[in-house]
Amino acid sequence: MDAIDILVRLAWLAGAVGFVIGLIRMNSPATARNGNLLSAAGMAVAIGATGILILRDGGDATAWLIIGAGVLVGGGLGLYTARTVAMTAMPQLVSLFNAVGGGAAALIGIDEYIRLVNSPEAAPLTTTIFVVLDIVIGSVTFSGSLIASGKLMGLSITPSRPVMIPGGQLVTLALAAIVVVSAGYLFFVEDSLLVMFVIVATALVFGVTMTLPIGGADMPVVISLLNSFTGTAVAMAGFVIDNVVLIIAGALVGASGAILTKLMADAMNRSVLNIMIGGFGGGEGTVGGGGPEGGTVRSIGVDDAAIQLAYASSVIIVPGYGLAVAQAQHAVRELADLLEDRGVNVNYAIHPVAGRMPGHMNVLLAEANVPYPQLREMEDINPEFERADVALVVGANDVTNPAARRSGNPVSGMPILDVDHAKSIIVIKRSMGRGYAGIDNELYVNPKTGMLFADAKQGLADLVAAVKAV
Ligand code: TAP
Repeated sequence: MDAIDILVRLAWLAGAVGFVIGLIRMNSPATARNGNLLSAAGMAVAIGATGILILRDGGDATAWLIIGAGVLVGGGLGLYTARTVAMTAMPQLVSLFNAVGGGAAALIGIDEYIRLVNSPEAAPLTTTIFVVLDIVIGSVTFSGSLIASGKLMGLSITPSRPVMIPGGQLVTLALAAIVVVSAGYLFFVEDSLLVMFVIVATALVFGVTMTLPIGGADMPVVISLLNSFTGTAVAMAGFVIDNVVLIIAGALVGASGAILTKLMADAMNRSVLNIMIGGFGGGEGTVGGGGPEGGTVRSIGVDDAAIQLAYASSVIIVPGYGLAVAQAQHAVRELADLLEDRGVNVNYAIHPVAGRMPGHMNVLLAEANVPYPQLREMEDINPEFERADVALVVGANDVTNPAARRSGNPVSGMPILDVDHAKSIIVIKRSMGRGYAGIDNELYVNPKTGMLFADAKQGLADLVAAVKAV
């Protein structure tokens, strides 16, 4: 190992330290931005150091052309999409990035396997194991993430509702069995390009059959699971090409993604295994959830709502996806400030899957400088609804739907915010339109509920004006 090798490895170590400290700083909204920058700086150092290694080892002109074109096209597209994406479209972008990461890791594995097969010496078993794991996890992630992204975009070929596959779990289990038997053949019988491509094809189909039956409220769990797979595939690629930075970065993403998946699955009252092999949710046949039909919807005006809020002693604001669409975070903060000035106790109830990405509501409200202590997690705030004079629901739907307490519908079993326990409920949304899970919300026909039909931003601005006039 010469001086350049040592320096490069030290730089990789510094990069890895940057990832770890950055990740720790992402624990709190106050330090998260800074943590993100630190991790990005760590990655820049690691890439720069790798470039020096390639320079030293003298890549030919074609290699540099390919690397340069890859950095320009990939980096340029990544930068452009990340800077221009609407906050509400972030989950589909994350899912596309997962697909790219998984696909790249799988390609590294395939390339390495072709090299191994063509080499005169037999590949050691340990290398083949990492190569095959890389190919399998990378391919599942690639196809699964593309389908998840399509579902989140609502493309017609990948509908966001659960799409049941004929044969269901049996097909998924059969595909898993083909992968295991083929991998065993490569490990213990002989090397074979054909068998390797059978594994690639089967893993790609597995990604599709695993993701298609998932829909509605379960999508956040599958996205975070695929994110964890991406990290794991990248770590495997690191073992394959003997690159410690890839191993460390991949392991960090894989482990943190796995923890997030477990937290989200617990929050949704789901089992990860069940989501993977069986899909979840109910599908179209269960729309409506078998709950009480009909009921009268009571529409209220801005002045009526403003009086309820202004004379309340405790108000719980329940933000949801509609708040993000309307970019109404500043308006809601203004209303909350106004109420607090009048002596009203105001809190925000944060459901773990409100919006379209983990932490969506926290990020949105932090942008409007809502004080962190006012953001209350579901378990913490739920017992307080029965003491609240008004629950003000702004663009949230599924996360408040009491149908979740019954079986047989797409949100069954998902813990919800107990909005219906409040003394009075005001819901701001534009229409009786459904939420992501595609079912009606019986909260809207609760006699305690007044529907204030408006765009969230406009409705809140009108409320601010009306409260000032009370
Ligand atoms: P949703 O159930 O999706 O409901 C959002 C509601 O916002 C809609 O019913 C819509 O009604 C209303 N809305 C839309 N634009 C609006 C605007 N400009 N002004 C006012 N209201 C507007 O949202 P939620 O309660 O936050 O639940 C989230 C759902 O998304 C869950 O099912 C969750 O599982 C799923 N999901 C979450 C994630 C993550 S990680 N958070 C990722 C993927 C999916 P109108 O059209 O009548 O206005």
